[in-house]
Amino acid sequence: PVIRLSDYQPPEFLIDHVQLRFELDAQQTLVEAELSLRRNPAATRGDGDLRLDGEQLELEAIRLNERALTPAEYQIEDAHLRVRRVPDRCRLWTRVRLNPSANTALEGLYVSGDMLCTQCEAEGFRRITYFLDRPDVMATYRVTLIADPARYPVLLSNGNPAGDEGRLDDGRLCVHWDDPFPKPSYLFAVVAGDLRAVEDRFETASGRPIPLRIYVEPGNEDKCEHAMRSLIAAMRWDEQRYGREYDLEVFNIVAVSHFNMGAMENKGLNVFNAKYILARPESATDTDFAGIEGVVAHEYFHNWTGNRITCRDWFQLSLKEGFTVYRDQEFSADQGSRGVKRIEDVRLLRARQFPEDSGPMAHPVRPDSYIEINNFYTATVYEKGAELVRMQAHLLGPERFRQATDLYFERFDGQAVTTDDFVACMETAGGIDLTQFKRWYSQAGTPQLDCADRFDPATGTYRLEVRQHTPATPGQTEKQPLHIPLALGLLDAEGRDLPLQLQGETTPPAPGTRLLELRESVETFVFTGLAEQPVPSLLRGFSAPVQIHYPYTDAQLSFLMAHDSDGFNRWDAAQTLAQRLLLAMVEAPGTPVPAPFLDAFARALADEAADPALIAEVLTLPAESYLGDQMSVVDVDGIHRARQTLAAAIGSRLRAPLLAAYERTRSADAFDLSHASMGRRALGNLCLGYLVRAGDGEALALAQRQFDAQQNMTDVIAALRMLVETATEAGEQALTAFYQRWSSEPLVIDKWFALQAQSHRVDTLARVERLLAHPDFSLTNPNRVRALIGAFAGGNPVRFHAADGTGYRFLTDRILELDPLNPQIASRLLYPMTRWRRYDPGRQQLQRDQLERILEVEGLSNDVYEVVSKSLG
Ligand code: ARG
Ligand code: ZN
Repeated sequence: PVIRLSDYQPPEFLIDHVQLRFELDAQQTLVEAELSLRRNPAATRGDGDLRLDGEQLELEAIRLNERALTPAEYQIEDAHLRVRRVPDRCRLWTRVRLNPSANTALEGLYVSGDMLCTQCEAEGFRRITYFLDRPDVMATYRVTLIADPARYPVLLSNGNPAGDEGRLDDGRLCVHWDDPFPKPSYLFAVVAGDLRAVEDRFETASGRPIPLRIYVEPGNEDKCEHAMRSLIAAMRWDEQRYGREYDLEVFNIVAVSHFNMGAMENKGLNVFNAKYILARPESATDTDFAGIEGVVAHEYFHNWTGNRITCRDWFQLSLKEGFTVYRDQEFSADQGSRGVKRIEDVRLLRARQFPEDSGPMAHPVRPDSYIEINNFYTATVYEKGAELVRMQAHLLGPERFRQATDLYFERFDGQAVTTDDFVACMETAGGIDLTQFKRWYSQAGTPQLDCADRFDPATGTYRLEVRQHTPATPGQTEKQPLHIPLALGLLDAEGRDLPLQLQGETTPPAPGTRLLELRESVETFVFTGLAEQPVPSLLRGFSAPVQIHYPYTDAQLSFLMAHDSDGFNRWDAAQTLAQRLLLAMVEAPGTPVPAPFLDAFARALADEAADPALIAEVLTLPAESYLGDQMSVVDVDGIHRARQTLAAAIGSRLRAPLLAAYERTRSADAFDLSHASMGRRALGNLCLGYLVRAGDGEALALAQRQFDAQQNMTDVIAALRMLVETATEAGEQALTAFYQRWSSEPLVIDKWFALQAQSHRVDTLARVERLLAHPDFSLTNPNRVRALIGAFAGGNPVRFHAADGTGYRFLTDRILELDPLNPQIASRLLYPMTRWRRYDPGRQQLQRDQLERILEVEGLSNDVYEVVSKSLG
C-alpha cells in the first residue's frame, strides 16, 4: 500500500493525555493504557468509529469510560483496533500482552543483552499499545513502570521522575514518570536494566540546575567522559546560538548495544547505539570521537527541533532532521575546524546523497509517497535537507536567520507542522520571497550547473553564463528551475580576490566572495573593471547542493589549489585534479603521473603552517565508489587498479617528504584528543599508507612498530589495516593479537570484523564467509551485521562487485536470512545493489538476477519489497 502526502487528513480523534502502566518482563510484558480521547474539531467527521494502530499485540481487556466492551463493540482488523461509535469525549482503557524477547526487529519494546528498551520512531509505538500512532497526535504522558528489582533496578521513561518510587506487596519495584510536554508517540521511551549512571550537572542560562545522567551496562562507566562533555557543550551552544534552554528537570541518556540506527531523541531520555556514547582513546578512533560529539549534539538539539516542535506527518521528516543536522554540523564546526567540517560534510553528501538522487530510490527532501517510512531516513532527507536549511541561512544572513528561527520556535511551540511552515518563518523574518526556493523541497535530483565565461580585454568586462538543469528522476520527468545561491570569487594572476562589480553598479564592492542568486534556467552576469582575465572560483563553501561544471585547465585547478582564499575550493580543486588523473588512468592504464601533480602534492605536504587535518583532506584520493559515480559505466577493476597505482606512485616518488611528514606528525601524547592532535594523526597515517602501498620496507616496519605500540586506537587501526593489506604472515599475526587483546570489547571487535571485510585482498569474500561462523558473529546484532556484511557490500567495491557475481549472491543470501528477523537492517544492506544499472551488462544481469530472486520470496517485508521493486522498476 502506497502512502501519499496528497492523502493527508487530520486525525478524527485527538489524545490529550495518556496513562501507561507497564509490568515489565523479558518474555511477557503487560501494558495497560488509558487514553483521554476527544474528537478533533478540525477534522471532517468520519463514520464515528475509532481506529487505533496496533501490531503484534495480544489484547486482554478493553473498557470504554470504565465499562468493559462486548465483542460486538470492537474489532481487531489486521493492524488496527476498531471501536464502534465512540462518544466525542471518552477514556479508552486497554490491556495488552507482548513478548520483548521475540522482538528481533528492534522496533517497539525489545531485549538488548540484559536490558529492556524501546525504539518507537517512526511507527514502533503501535507495537507497545493500541494508539493513534502518528506524529500529529500529541499528548502528555504519565508512565508507571513495574519490574523485578533484581533484574531491572533502574526503570526509566520520558519526562520528570514523579518522586513516589516504591515497592509493591510482591516485592516488585514501581516507579512513575511524568512528561508535561505534549509529544507524539514516536518520542516515547522506556528502559529497564541493571544500569550504572555516570553523572554530571548543567546549569541553564536561567539558572536551573539539570542533573545529567548517562546510563551504561556495568563496566562501561569509564567510557562516557567524551559523550558527557559533548552534551554539556551542546546544551550551552543551543542557548547561545539559538536561545534554546533545556526544559525538563532531568536529562538522561542510555547506551544500548543492539540498535538499528545511530540514536533516538526520545523526550528527556535519549537512547543511543553504544557506538555513539562509549569511547576511550585506546579503544576508539578519532572518527568515533567526532561521531559521538555530533550525534550527542544532534539528539540533544532535537529537543527543540523535533520534540517541542514536531512533524505533522512523516513526509515532513526533514523539518526536524534537515534542520537538526544543520544544527549539529554548525555545532561541530564551532568545536573543531569549520573548514575541515565543511569538507567532511560535503564529501558525505556527494558520496551518499548524490548517488541516491541519481538512482532508482531518488526522492525529494519532502517525499510525496512511500511504502515503508523506514526507507526514507535517507541522506536526501537528512543531509540534503540540511543543505536546504543552510542555503536559507545563507540567503538571510546570520541576524535575520536567528530572527527567523526565534519566530519559528515562538509560532509553533507544541505543534506538529510542515516544511512550508518552516519556510514561512524564513520569509517573514527575512523579508524575502521563497516561493521558488520551495521547489528544492519537492523536486528530486541534483541540479547541474554548466558555466561558461568570456573576457573582453577592450572593455575590461567578464561575462559568466550559468545554465541550470536537473535530470529526470523516477516519477518526475519535468523539472523547474531552482532558486540557487551561488557564492563566487574571481582571482587575479597573483591569486588575489578581485572586487566583483556587476555591470550597472557605481561603486565597486570590497574584494572577496559575492553571493549571486540564480532563478532562471540561464543567467548571465557581467562584471566590470577587470584588467585581466580572472580565474573564477565557483560555488565557494559549496553554497548549494549542486554539481558545477566549468572547463578548468589542469593549470587553473593547480592555481586554485594553491591560492584560492576559499579553503573549501582549494580542497575541491585538488580533488578534481586527482579525479581527472585517476579517470585518465582508468581509460589508459599506462598514463604516467604528471610531475605537476606530484609537485602540488609535495607543496601541500611541505606546508607546515597549515592545519594538518586540512592537508590530510587535500591529499586524500577520491574514493573508489565516488570515482565510479563519475563514469558512465563503472569500471570496478580499472578504478581499483588506477587508485592503487597512483597511491604507490605517490609513495615511491615522494618518499622523503612523506617520511618527514610522518615523523613530524608523531605526537608525544598519543592520547590527546585536541583537533590539532587528531589532524596530525590523520596526516601521519595517510602518509604512512602511501609509503606502505609503494612496498616501502622501512614504512612497513614503522607500521608494525605503530601497531605493536598499541597506543591510540586511531593509530592502531590504521597500522593494522596496512599490515592486513600486505597479505603477509605479519598481517595474520596482527589480526590475532588484536582480537585477543580486545575480545571483551564489542565495539572494538566490530572494527576487527569491518577491517577484514574491507580488505582488498582477493580472498576477502572467503574470509567474510568464514567470519559468519565466528562465535562472535550474530545476525541479531545490527552493529555486527553492519561491521561484516555492510562493510563488505558497501565499503569494498572491488570485491563486492567481483565479475563472477559471488558477492551479489552472498549479499542476497544474507538479506533473505535477515529480512524475517530485522527488515530495517535487511533493507539498508540492499543499497549497493540498487545501483545495478551503473555497471557493465554482465554485472547488471548478475545483480538483477539476485534482485529478482529476492522479489520471488513470499512474505517479504514492506521495507525490502519497496527497495527491490523500485530498483527493478
Ligand atoms: N530520529 C533519529 C535521529 O535522527 C533517527 C530515527 C531513525 N528511525 C528509523 N526508523 N530509521 O536521530
Ligand atoms: Zn535526527
